[in-house]
Amino acid sequence: MIGNKPDSDLWSDWLLYRRHADDPSYQQVIRPVIERYAERVLDGARLAPGMTLIDVGAGEGLVAFRAIDRIGASLRVLLTDISAAMLHHAEALAVERGVRDQCTFLQGSAESLQGIEGASVDVVTTRAVLAYVHDKGAAFREFHRVLKPGGRISMVEPIHQDEAYAALALKTIVDGQPPENPDRFLPLLHRWKAAQFPDSLEKIAASPLANYSERDLVRFGQAAGFAEIHMELHVDVAPSDVTTWEVFLGVSPHPLAPPLGVILAERFSDEERQFFEQIMRPTVEAGQSVSIDRVAYLTARKPAT
Ligand SMILES: C[S@@+](CC[C@H](N)C(=O)[O-])C[C@H]1O[C@@H](n2cnc3c(N)ncnc32)[C@H](O)[C@@H]1O
Repeated sequence: MIGNKPDSDLWSDWLLYRRHADDPSYQQVIRPVIERYAERVLDGARLAPGMTLIDVGAGEGLVAFRAIDRIGASLRVLLTDISAAMLHHAEALAVERGVRDQCTFLQGSAESLQGIEGASVDVVTTRAVLAYVHDKGAAFREFHRVLKPGGRISMVEPIHQDEAYAALALKTIVDGQPPENPDRFLPLLHRWKAAQFPDSLEKIAASPLANYSERDLVRFGQAAGFAEIHMELHVDVAPSDVTTWEVFLGVSPHPLAPPLGVILAERFSDEERQFFEQIMRPTVEAGQSVSIDRVAYLTARKPAT
């Protein structure tokens, strides 16, 4: 059911290393935050003994294994992912946890859940996956197809539109700077942000990461035929938990984004790098940088008849 085992791919590189800058102590810092997303998704799933759950884009099995922890041996779990590397990793973890017999691993895209019969699962969960799916409408239709009548979806997705619009705003400001007295820092800030998020209306429209809002998720659910849709947007502005320069250079905000350290090495001159660090580093190390987290939780039910 899973393709050949590659050593790694961009998804496994990010999930297993780049998400925490390959820093074990920072990994400990972000782990509870990520686990809270999964717990909330499972609260919305309303699992019960004897059910079958499919976790789409399962990654390392964060949601799937916590579901088994909640319900026990009677829960059947299908873990799907586009990444063979992540599925092999999750399968090894399932063996380690002694739950391999409850799990089925399937490689494929959320847009086409091939190999899964219609009306065969009680619950669909997914966390931070649709952000990378081009045809989100097709994914919702697949969730609807595989669910039994009365079945539920529960998901959480990052909403990255504002980061993209901020990159676009920076570009507009930089392009409009007076040539006789330009700000030196803003173009560098824009170069950093534009390497991680689309910075024009055309690029935003073409980017699965940034071309949807929380309201679009509701619209996709409705169009696919779901009823009782509930969506909550959570926006948290807080002091960043990144307080060392090494982690600041090493993390990237999503799997498709290069980390700042790579951007500085590849797209900045030595002089630009020094100037950038002189401004940013004291802010980071003083714990004064700010993180803004925007996520949408959505639950919905397939009508019973
Ligand atoms: C940010 S990770 C989230 C992983 C996991 N859901 C979690 O909560 O830890 C995104 C996951 O989506 C998977 N993925 C990316 N594109 C996908 C697609 N089109 N269909 C299914 N999975 C996909 C990646 O391989 C990766 O495991």
